[in-house]
Amino acid sequence: DSTAGFATTLTEWYEHHKRDLPWRHTQNPYFIWLSEVILQQTRVVQGRPYYERFVAAYPSVQAMANADERDLLRLWQGLGYYSRARNMHKTAQYVAGDLAGRFPETFLDLLKLPGVGAYTAAAIASFAFQEKVAVVDGNVYRVLARVFGIEEDITTTGAKKTFSVLANQLIQMSDNPATYNQAIMEFGAIQCTPVSPDCLLCPLQQRCQAYLTGRQRMLPVKSKK
Ligand code: ADE
Ligand code: SF4
Repeated sequence: DSTAGFATTLTEWYEHHKRDLPWRHTQNPYFIWLSEVILQQTRVVQGRPYYERFVAAYPSVQAMANADERDLLRLWQGLGYYSRARNMHKTAQYVAGDLAGRFPETFLDLLKLPGVGAYTAAAIASFAFQEKVAVVDGNVYRVLARVFGIEEDITTTGAKKTFSVLANQLIQMSDNPATYNQAIMEFGAIQCTPVSPDCLLCPLQQRCQAYLTGRQRMLPVKSKK
């Protein structure tokens, strides 16, 4: 079976290669949510100091809820997409006010929060609550398209469904969904990169359809918009 061992191999790779990032040392859903909101359209190196400043300024969801929005926007300066910061404040006020400061604990309930899409809901549900729900983003499309030789155009609804179904099958085989999700993200970010994936030192090489057929550069398929 082509999926057997995928989660284990990826998780072992991660334990040796992961970057030490502050949001990987917490299971607190507030900090995880904060990091994911910041990292949605921002690179890790750029987002990290923002994360640290937000944690220092607002150490709890209540603290963020009570913040003056102008202060919050000032701290956000440089990240762009100010609607993200406003949604973030709205969500903090909702969680602090209507949910007594407790973040929802399941993927489906997390999805109801303002500004929280499938990716962020899966990240929080798995990292904070060990739910077996896969994160699916550009990194995941790339890794899965290459390893499993998926030729579907990732801009189509059908392909998104294909990747999401496969990603969720794969995470079922892991006994640590939090680590597995961090691992596939990290693998896409530093090993199986868009332009020059490090195939020669890759633990998935012998099971990677793209490597075996020399199609790394063609996968994932993405039609021009
Ligand atoms: N990008 C989005 N979420 C991330 C995470 N948890 N770790 C590293 N990069 C990320
Ligand atoms: Fe990615 Fe290359 Fe590894 Fe395949 S062999 S998973 S393309 S880094």
